[in-house]
Amino acid sequence: MREVRDKLYIIMVGLPARGKSTVAAKLREGLKKEYIKVRIFNNGDLRRKLLCDNSSKPDFYNPDNKNNVELREKIALTNINNARKYLQGEGQVAILDATNVSIKRRRKIQEMLTDSPILFVECINTDQEILKASITKKTEQPEFDRLDFQEAFDSFQKRISYYEHIAQPLKEEKNYYVLDSLNNKILGEKISDNIFCSVQIRDLLVSEWVKNLFLVRHGESYFNLENRIGGNPELTPNGWAQAEALARHFQHTNIPYIYTSTKKRTVQTAQPISRIQKNSQALELKEFNEINAGECECMSYEEIRQNRPQVFYARIKDKYNYIYPEGEGYITLKKRVDRGLKKAIYLSGNATYIMIIGHQAVNRMILAHFLYRRKEDVPYIYTPKDRYFHIVSTQSKKLFELKRY
Ligand code: F6P
Repeated sequence: MREVRDKLYIIMVGLPARGKSTVAAKLREGLKKEYIKVRIFNNGDLRRKLLCDNSSKPDFYNPDNKNNVELREKIALTNINNARKYLQGEGQVAILDATNVSIKRRRKIQEMLTDSPILFVECINTDQEILKASITKKTEQPEFDRLDFQEAFDSFQKRISYYEHIAQPLKEEKNYYVLDSLNNKILGEKISDNIFCSVQIRDLLVSEWVKNLFLVRHGESYFNLENRIGGNPELTPNGWAQAEALARHFQHTNIPYIYTSTKKRTVQTAQPISRIQKNSQALELKEFNEINAGECECMSYEEIRQNRPQVFYARIKDKYNYIYPEGEGYITLKKRVDRGLKKAIYLSGNATYIMIIGHQAVNRMILAHFLYRRKEDVPYIYTPKDRYFHIVSTQSKKLFELKRY
């Protein structure tokens, strides 16, 4: 059959919970912006539609269970055929979103889809902690409704181990990218054919995708009243009023993921908004805890000046690099806040809106990730309490706005 050059099949590859669907959605949105007709064909969606919750048990994925192997094969073939029909019509890019980890399955796809080039995109994530958080998130899908948390978690892990059993790396395929989906980094690539939109696709794969991030500082705490730092204080009545105002401000915007630190002042700030929001999860990330002031925790700036003058003045002299005795500095905070941000973005998948309720120093580090600032200026970034930053950062749009709530 004649190969049509302005059409393309993109075949996702990867074990479950490796971010394939997020990457597929990112490709779809990015290509749509280029006025390309693109559609995703997702085996999981089709399976859930056809089989309801009959496929939530791990045995459904056991390669030795012949009946179920046949059923899954049928679902895969249906989607392959649907993708082909789409490209034979008006479609330009068909994305097949499924694990496709075995060579056998990939050969089958190549046998069936001969009319346009095929590009394989494999997603890899080896970060065990983030993987665990990601599986935990998966257990909340409706297909696991009848199982308790542990059963659902074990079931999903078993499902992964079945796929691990048959997984083989991309090698003989003519065109592929291997992507570290947590760090948006290409780990391997081979392009032998003339691939439609290959430049846009490669650039989309490596670009960080933050559709709408609302970055908020926690409401007023009892320590704020006394200019005291760190600790684990609660919100003041004024702080609670700020949290209520935040909830009211976003009452008509669905924010499925709200991330806080593990400290009471951020968790409490998230409570009214989580209560009002439908289908929203508040998740505590320790990476977003405020800078640890070590021996100076719970002291006021004035007490530090009087009792620990060497700390006070050394910090003023080089605030970014200064590390509190037994504590942290901005320089050491960067790594964990960056990790928290990566974790939040990964776990939020393709959500249109997410929120982070953080602390002064943490929010400065997050802002520094999106803004250009010299290191020495980062500890002085303006982070007011009654406002939030609306941040968009995609391949085609950068937005940064300070708004009142
Ligand atoms: O004052 C509130 C606070 O969040 C403290 O807990 C923290 O030590 C401080 O801000 C960080 O700001 P700076 O680096 O300006 O001292």
